[in-house]
Amino acid sequence: MSGSEQKLQTEVLATFDHSGDQRLGEVLQAVVRHVHELVRELQLSRDEWLGAISFLTAVGQMCDETRQEFVLLSDTLGVSSLVEMINHLGAEGSTENTVLGPFYLPGAPGRANGESILVDDDPGLRLTVAGIVTAVDGTPVPGAMIDVWQTASNGRYAVQDEAQSPENLRGVFTTDGEGRFEFQTVRPVVYSIPDDGPVGQLLPAVGRHPMRAAHIHLIVSAPGYVPVTTHVFDADSAYLASDAVFGVRDSLIRSFEPDGAGGLRTTFDVVLTPSP
Ligand code: BEZ
Ligand code: FE
Repeated sequence: MSGSEQKLQTEVLATFDHSGDQRLGEVLQAVVRHVHELVRELQLSRDEWLGAISFLTAVGQMCDETRQEFVLLSDTLGVSSLVEMINHLGAEGSTENTVLGPFYLPGAPGRANGESILVDDDPGLRLTVAGIVTAVDGTPVPGAMIDVWQTASNGRYAVQDEAQSPENLRGVFTTDGEGRFEFQTVRPVVYSIPDDGPVGQLLPAVGRHPMRAAHIHLIVSAPGYVPVTTHVFDADSAYLASDAVFGVRDSLIRSFEPDGAGGLRTTFDVVLTPSP
Protein backbone atom coordinates (compact mmCIF):
# COMPACT_ATOMS: atom_id res chain seq x y z
CA MET A 1 0.00 0.00 0.00
CA SER A 2 1.40 3.41 -0.94
CA GLY A 3 1.92 6.08 1.73
CA SER A 4 -1.04 8.13 0.50
CA GLU A 5 -3.31 5.05 0.33
CA GLN A 6 -2.33 4.14 3.91
CA LYS A 7 -2.91 7.73 5.07
CA LEU A 8 -6.38 7.75 3.42
CA GLN A 9 -7.41 4.46 5.02
CA THR A 10 -6.16 5.47 8.49
CA GLU A 11 -8.05 8.76 8.20
CA VAL A 12 -11.32 7.03 7.18
CA LEU A 13 -11.02 4.34 9.88
CA ALA A 14 -10.46 6.97 12.57
CA THR A 15 -13.81 8.61 11.76
CA PHE A 16 -15.54 5.55 13.28
CA ASP A 17 -13.45 5.50 16.48
CA HIS A 18 -16.08 7.26 18.56
CA SER A 19 -19.26 5.67 17.24
CA GLY A 20 -22.09 5.83 19.80
CA ASP A 21 -22.88 2.25 18.77
CA GLN A 22 -19.53 0.49 19.19
CA ARG A 23 -20.51 -2.56 17.15
CA LEU A 24 -21.66 -0.33 14.26
CA GLY A 25 -18.28 1.44 14.29
CA GLU A 26 -16.46 -1.92 14.32
CA VAL A 27 -18.56 -3.22 11.40
CA LEU A 28 -18.02 -0.06 9.30
CA GLN A 29 -14.27 -0.11 9.94
CA ALA A 30 -14.15 -3.72 8.71
CA VAL A 31 -16.22 -2.76 5.63
CA VAL A 32 -13.77 0.09 4.85
CA ARG A 33 -10.70 -2.13 5.31
CA HIS A 34 -12.10 -4.91 3.11
CA VAL A 35 -13.49 -2.64 0.35
CA HIS A 36 -10.24 -0.60 0.19
CA GLU A 37 -8.32 -3.89 -0.01
CA LEU A 38 -10.61 -5.15 -2.81
CA VAL A 39 -10.13 -1.95 -4.85
CA ARG A 40 -6.34 -2.20 -4.39
CA GLU A 41 -6.11 -5.95 -5.07
CA LEU A 42 -8.11 -5.67 -8.32
CA GLN A 43 -6.74 -2.22 -9.22
CA LEU A 44 -10.35 -1.36 -10.13
CA SER A 45 -10.84 1.15 -12.94
CA ARG A 46 -13.34 4.00 -12.50
CA ASP A 47 -15.69 2.28 -14.96
CA GLU A 48 -15.54 -0.99 -13.07
CA TRP A 49 -16.39 0.74 -9.78
CA LEU A 50 -19.29 2.58 -11.46
CA GLY A 51 -20.42 -0.78 -12.91
CA ALA A 52 -20.50 -2.25 -9.40
CA ILE A 53 -22.54 0.72 -8.16
CA SER A 54 -24.96 0.38 -11.10
CA PHE A 55 -25.38 -3.34 -10.35
CA LEU A 56 -26.13 -2.70 -6.65
CA THR A 57 -28.54 0.09 -7.64
CA ALA A 58 -30.42 -2.37 -9.90
CA VAL A 59 -30.49 -4.91 -7.05
CA GLY A 60 -32.08 -2.30 -4.77
CA GLN A 61 -34.57 -1.21 -7.43
CA MET A 62 -35.73 -4.83 -7.83
CA CYS A 63 -36.74 -5.02 -4.15
CA ASP A 64 -40.31 -4.51 -2.91
CA GLU A 65 -42.48 -6.00 -0.13
CA THR A 66 -42.43 -9.46 -1.73
CA ARG A 67 -39.11 -9.49 -3.62
CA GLN A 68 -35.75 -9.19 -1.81
CA GLU A 69 -33.01 -9.16 -4.44
CA PHE A 70 -30.29 -8.37 -1.84
CA VAL A 71 -31.14 -11.60 0.00
CA LEU A 72 -30.91 -13.44 -3.33
CA LEU A 73 -27.48 -11.86 -3.90
CA SER A 74 -26.40 -12.94 -0.42
CA ASP A 75 -27.75 -16.46 -1.12
CA THR A 76 -25.94 -16.84 -4.46
CA LEU A 77 -22.64 -15.60 -3.02
CA GLY A 78 -22.83 -18.18 -0.19
CA VAL A 79 -23.07 -15.44 2.44
CA SER A 80 -26.51 -16.56 3.70
CA SER A 81 -25.16 -20.09 4.16
CA LEU A 82 -22.09 -18.76 6.00
CA VAL A 83 -24.25 -16.64 8.35
CA GLU A 84 -26.35 -19.77 9.05
CA MET A 85 -23.24 -21.87 9.74
CA ILE A 86 -21.71 -19.46 12.24
CA ASN A 87 -24.99 -18.72 14.03
CA HIS A 88 -26.47 -22.20 14.44
CA LEU A 89 -26.21 -23.19 18.10
CA GLY A 90 -26.60 -26.92 17.37
CA ALA A 91 -24.40 -29.28 19.41
CA GLU A 92 -22.32 -32.07 17.86
CA GLY A 93 -24.70 -34.69 16.42
CA SER A 94 -27.68 -32.36 16.01
CA THR A 95 -29.42 -31.89 12.65
CA GLU A 96 -27.58 -29.44 10.39
CA ASN A 97 -29.35 -26.25 9.43
CA THR A 98 -29.45 -24.54 6.06
CA VAL A 99 -30.95 -21.46 4.39
CA LEU A 100 -34.57 -20.43 5.09
CA GLY A 101 -35.16 -19.04 1.58
CA PRO A 102 -37.66 -16.31 0.67
CA PHE A 103 -40.76 -18.51 0.31
CA TYR A 104 -41.46 -19.32 3.97
CA LEU A 105 -44.82 -18.02 5.11
CA PRO A 106 -45.62 -18.42 8.83
CA GLY A 107 -49.12 -19.61 9.73
CA ALA A 108 -49.34 -22.85 7.71
CA PRO A 109 -52.33 -25.02 8.68
CA GLY A 110 -51.88 -27.55 11.50
CA ARG A 111 -52.18 -31.08 10.14
CA ALA A 112 -52.61 -34.51 11.76
CA ASN A 113 -49.75 -36.97 11.70
CA GLY A 114 -49.84 -38.97 8.46
CA GLU A 115 -51.90 -36.31 6.63
CA SER A 116 -50.95 -34.99 3.19
CA ILE A 117 -49.74 -31.42 2.64
CA LEU A 118 -51.06 -31.68 -0.92
CA VAL A 119 -54.27 -29.67 -1.35
CA ASP A 120 -54.36 -29.27 -5.16
CA ASP A 121 -54.05 -31.85 -7.94
CA ASP A 122 -50.42 -32.56 -8.75
CA PRO A 123 -48.87 -35.02 -11.22
CA GLY A 124 -45.91 -35.74 -8.88
CA LEU A 125 -45.05 -39.16 -7.49
CA ARG A 126 -46.52 -39.60 -3.99
CA LEU A 127 -43.91 -39.48 -1.20
CA THR A 128 -44.17 -40.27 2.51
CA VAL A 129 -41.68 -38.64 4.89
CA ALA A 130 -41.46 -40.15 8.38
CA GLY A 131 -39.10 -39.56 11.27
CA ILE A 132 -38.52 -39.21 14.96
CA VAL A 133 -37.43 -36.06 16.75
CA THR A 134 -34.95 -36.69 19.56
CA ALA A 135 -32.61 -34.66 21.74
CA VAL A 136 -28.85 -35.12 21.22
CA ASP A 137 -28.86 -37.66 24.09
CA GLY A 138 -31.43 -39.79 22.17
CA THR A 139 -34.48 -38.88 24.29
CA PRO A 140 -37.61 -38.59 22.07
CA VAL A 141 -39.20 -35.12 21.93
CA PRO A 142 -43.04 -35.34 22.00
CA GLY A 143 -44.96 -32.21 20.99
CA ALA A 144 -42.24 -30.88 18.63
CA MET A 145 -43.61 -28.76 15.76
CA ILE A 146 -42.53 -29.53 12.20
CA ASP A 147 -43.36 -26.69 9.80
CA VAL A 148 -43.04 -28.04 6.23
CA TRP A 149 -43.20 -26.37 2.80
CA GLN A 150 -42.16 -27.23 -0.75
CA THR A 151 -42.90 -26.43 -4.39
CA ALA A 152 -45.55 -28.13 -6.48
CA SER A 153 -44.36 -30.22 -9.43
CA ASN A 154 -44.35 -27.03 -11.55
CA GLY A 155 -41.40 -25.79 -9.43
CA ARG A 156 -43.38 -23.01 -7.77
CA TYR A 157 -44.34 -22.42 -4.14
CA ALA A 158 -47.99 -21.57 -3.37
CA VAL A 159 -46.87 -18.03 -2.34
CA GLN A 160 -45.47 -17.52 -5.87
CA ASP A 161 -48.31 -19.06 -7.83
CA GLU A 162 -51.88 -17.74 -7.98
CA ALA A 163 -52.99 -21.01 -9.61
CA GLN A 164 -52.31 -22.88 -6.32
CA SER A 165 -54.44 -22.84 -3.17
CA PRO A 166 -52.65 -20.73 -0.53
CA GLU A 167 -52.33 -23.77 1.77
CA ASN A 168 -51.00 -26.15 -0.92
CA LEU A 169 -47.86 -28.04 0.09
CA ARG A 170 -47.59 -26.35 3.48
CA GLY A 171 -48.40 -27.70 6.92
CA VAL A 172 -47.42 -27.89 10.59
CA PHE A 173 -47.18 -31.35 12.17
CA THR A 174 -46.73 -32.23 15.86
CA THR A 175 -44.73 -35.22 17.06
CA ASP A 176 -46.65 -37.90 18.99
CA GLY A 177 -45.83 -39.23 22.47
CA GLU A 178 -42.80 -41.10 21.06
CA GLY A 179 -41.47 -38.11 19.12
CA ARG A 180 -42.69 -39.51 15.78
CA PHE A 181 -44.05 -37.59 12.80
CA GLU A 182 -45.16 -38.56 9.31
CA PHE A 183 -46.56 -36.66 6.35
CA GLN A 184 -47.54 -37.32 2.74
CA THR A 185 -46.46 -35.14 -0.13
CA VAL A 186 -45.16 -35.36 -3.71
CA ARG A 187 -41.56 -35.90 -4.74
CA PRO A 188 -39.90 -32.45 -4.75
CA VAL A 189 -38.50 -31.18 -8.05
CA VAL A 190 -35.51 -29.04 -9.03
CA TYR A 191 -36.48 -25.41 -9.62
CA SER A 192 -34.96 -22.08 -10.57
CA ILE A 193 -34.49 -19.32 -8.00
CA PRO A 194 -36.05 -16.04 -9.26
CA ASP A 195 -33.85 -15.21 -12.27
CA ASP A 196 -35.67 -12.23 -13.83
CA GLY A 197 -33.58 -9.63 -11.97
CA PRO A 198 -29.95 -8.45 -11.82
CA VAL A 199 -28.83 -11.49 -9.78
CA GLY A 200 -30.40 -13.83 -12.36
CA GLN A 201 -28.55 -11.93 -15.11
CA LEU A 202 -25.24 -12.14 -13.28
CA LEU A 203 -25.27 -15.95 -12.92
CA PRO A 204 -25.06 -16.91 -16.65
CA ALA A 205 -22.53 -14.09 -17.20
CA VAL A 206 -20.16 -16.03 -14.93
CA GLY A 207 -21.11 -19.50 -16.24
CA ARG A 208 -23.51 -20.38 -13.41
CA HIS A 209 -27.11 -21.71 -13.43
CA PRO A 210 -29.98 -20.61 -11.14
CA MET A 211 -31.17 -24.11 -10.17
CA ARG A 212 -31.73 -25.55 -6.70
CA ALA A 213 -31.44 -29.28 -5.94
CA ALA A 214 -34.83 -30.91 -5.14
CA HIS A 215 -35.72 -30.40 -1.47
CA ILE A 216 -38.44 -30.09 1.16
CA HIS A 217 -38.10 -27.29 3.76
CA LEU A 218 -38.63 -27.95 7.48
CA ILE A 219 -38.43 -25.81 10.61
CA VAL A 220 -38.40 -28.06 13.68
CA SER A 221 -39.00 -26.46 17.07
CA ALA A 222 -39.89 -27.57 20.59
CA PRO A 223 -39.95 -25.76 23.95
CA GLY A 224 -36.52 -26.03 25.60
CA TYR A 225 -34.65 -26.75 22.35
CA VAL A 226 -32.80 -24.70 19.73
CA PRO A 227 -35.05 -24.63 16.60
CA VAL A 228 -33.52 -25.89 13.37
CA THR A 229 -34.30 -24.58 9.87
CA THR A 230 -33.34 -27.29 7.43
CA HIS A 231 -34.12 -29.21 4.21
CA VAL A 232 -34.44 -32.87 3.15
CA PHE A 233 -32.71 -33.36 -0.22
CA ASP A 234 -33.52 -36.11 -2.74
CA ALA A 235 -30.37 -38.21 -3.28
CA ASP A 236 -31.32 -38.68 -6.95
CA SER A 237 -31.67 -34.95 -7.64
CA ALA A 238 -29.61 -33.00 -10.15
CA TYR A 239 -27.68 -29.97 -8.84
CA LEU A 240 -26.75 -31.47 -5.44
CA ALA A 241 -23.15 -30.53 -6.25
CA SER A 242 -23.96 -27.11 -7.71
CA ASP A 243 -26.97 -25.80 -5.77
CA ALA A 244 -27.36 -22.12 -6.74
CA VAL A 245 -27.53 -20.97 -3.09
CA PHE A 246 -24.99 -23.40 -1.55
CA GLY A 247 -27.69 -24.91 0.68
CA VAL A 248 -26.83 -28.62 0.34
CA ARG A 249 -25.34 -30.44 3.34
CA ASP A 250 -24.36 -34.12 2.91
CA SER A 251 -26.09 -35.02 6.19
CA LEU A 252 -29.45 -33.81 4.80
CA ILE A 253 -29.50 -36.02 1.65
CA ARG A 254 -31.90 -39.00 1.75
CA SER A 255 -32.74 -41.86 -0.64
CA PHE A 256 -36.41 -42.04 -1.58
CA GLU A 257 -37.30 -45.76 -1.77
CA PRO A 258 -40.36 -47.47 -3.36
CA ASP A 259 -43.11 -47.87 -0.72
CA GLY A 260 -44.62 -50.98 -2.34
CA ALA A 261 -47.81 -49.09 -3.26
CA GLY A 262 -46.55 -47.16 -6.28
CA GLY A 263 -45.14 -44.26 -4.28
CA LEU A 264 -41.93 -43.44 -2.44
CA ARG A 265 -40.95 -43.30 1.21
CA THR A 266 -38.05 -41.78 3.12
CA THR A 267 -36.96 -41.33 6.72
CA PHE A 268 -35.74 -38.03 8.12
CA ASP A 269 -34.92 -38.16 11.84
CA VAL A 270 -34.25 -34.82 13.52
CA VAL A 271 -31.87 -34.28 16.43
CA LEU A 272 -32.33 -31.13 18.52
CA THR A 273 -29.97 -29.36 20.91
CA PRO A 274 -31.30 -28.29 24.34
CA SER A 275 -31.47 -24.47 24.64
CA PRO A 276 -28.41 -23.02 26.35
C1 BEZ B 1 -35.64 -21.80 -1.40
O1 BEZ B 1 -35.15 -22.88 -1.18
O2 BEZ B 1 -36.85 -21.69 -1.32
C2 BEZ B 1 -34.75 -20.66 -1.84
C3 BEZ B 1 -33.60 -20.38 -1.13
C4 BEZ B 1 -32.80 -19.32 -1.52
C5 BEZ B 1 -33.14 -18.56 -2.62
C6 BEZ B 1 -34.28 -18.84 -3.34
C7 BEZ B 1 -35.10 -19.91 -2.95
FE1 FE C 1 -36.88 -24.10 -1.60
